[in-house]
Amino acid sequence: MSAEEIRKFHELLELTYWASGRTLNEVEESLQSSVIVSARHVEDGFVGCARAVTDKVTFSWICDVVVQAAHRRRGVGKELVRRLLAHPDVAATRKVLVTQDAQSFYQQLGFGTHRYECMIKYPEKVEPIRSSEPP
Ligand SMILES: CC(C)(COP(=O)(O)OP(=O)(O)OC[C@H]1O[C@@H](n2cnc3c(N)ncnc32)[C@H](O)[C@@H]1OP(=O)(O)O)[C@@H](O)C(=O)NCCC(=O)NCCS
Repeated sequence: MSAEEIRKFHELLELTYWASGRTLNEVEESLQSSVIVSARHVEDGFVGCARAVTDKVTFSWICDVVVQAAHRRRGVGKELVRRLLAHPDVAATRKVLVTQDAQSFYQQLGFGTHRYECMIKYPEKVEPIRSSEPP
């Protein structure tokens, strides 16, 4: 993705409930270790993106699936996810995701509810150690 497309992706993510507050730099870095599928409109340019974090063998995390509001409900989102799921680094793995309200969107793409409960550990705030302090 070009720098301009990453900037537009960052703008789209800023409007979401899960990635609002993520910095442009964080978005850029997250893309470096992800499989990415993006959509471009002939006139409007970048209109959407989806990414996966994967070990290529056992497990992929599908995330940051977002389409510009003016281009929704035209099949772009489903096509993004379909192509992501078919990517060689993702295809053979278990694909996992978390969503607040787009369950029916993902059900249409073959996702179902996991039989186990999803758990999470958020990163702890790491305070930098001042050089005057003992190790
Ligand atoms: C979810 C999203 C990516 C779908 O993109 P899209 O291009 O509109 O999707 P498609 O046109 O391929 O598919 C539309 C179908 O998915 C379903 N769908 C779309 N958005 C949905 C949502 N938020 N909740 C539930 N179902 C949804 C509908 O069934 C819709 O079919 P319909 O148009 O016949 O009603 C897009 O709405 C978006 O960017 N939303 C904000 C970000 C978001 O919620 N992302 C998913 C978070 S996990």
